[in-house]
Amino acid sequence: MTSNSKVFTFEEVAKHNHKNDCWIIVNGKVYDVTPFLDDHPGGDEVILSATEKDATIDFEDVGHSDSAIEDMQKYYVGEFDANTLPAEVDNSTPPSRQAVAPNTSNQSSGFVLKILQYVLPMLILASAYALQYYGKSSKPNES
Ligand code: HEM
Repeated sequence: MTSNSKVFTFEEVAKHNHKNDCWIIVNGKVYDVTPFLDDHPGGDEVILSATEKDATIDFEDVGHSDSAIEDMQKYYVGEFDANTLPAEVDNSTPPSRQAVAPNTSNQSSGFVLKILQYVLPMLILASAYALQYYGKSSKPNES
């Protein structure tokens, strides 16, 4: 199947990016999923947002079943020429930590989480200690 397949460039595939003409790239293969959009259990929007890029990670993140992967072969139209994938849309490999721009909202929520990590156990310990102390001191004198 692969040897006779047509090879598409990114530009060619990316043109098919709407509901009436929708192609996706998954694992180096090109699929024309136009007839499937209305039947897709995950909805059409999610597939449309996977156009104009390498959708491999998006597709695999969902954990599609074996039967979904089998189904997909019906829509195969050719191979994808990975050399034509523009660098700015290359999401086929997760970005390295260095490449990710620092996100301040993530940073601050990470900081809050760190504080909670330390403060919560201390609060629990303090209230356990206070309860024990209060429990003891409020008991009637046994002697
Ligand atoms: C030809 C391509 C595709 C086929 C044949 C396909 C098929 C399916 C099928 C059969 C399901 C139901 C669950 C399962 O059996 O795995 C599903 C769910 C789903 N798919 Fe796809 N899919 C395709 C492409 C995509 C793409 C590109 C995305 C983009 C992220 C996507 C996102 C989802 C989501 C979000 C669900 C719902 C998962 C859930 O609610 O649990 N699918 N798909």
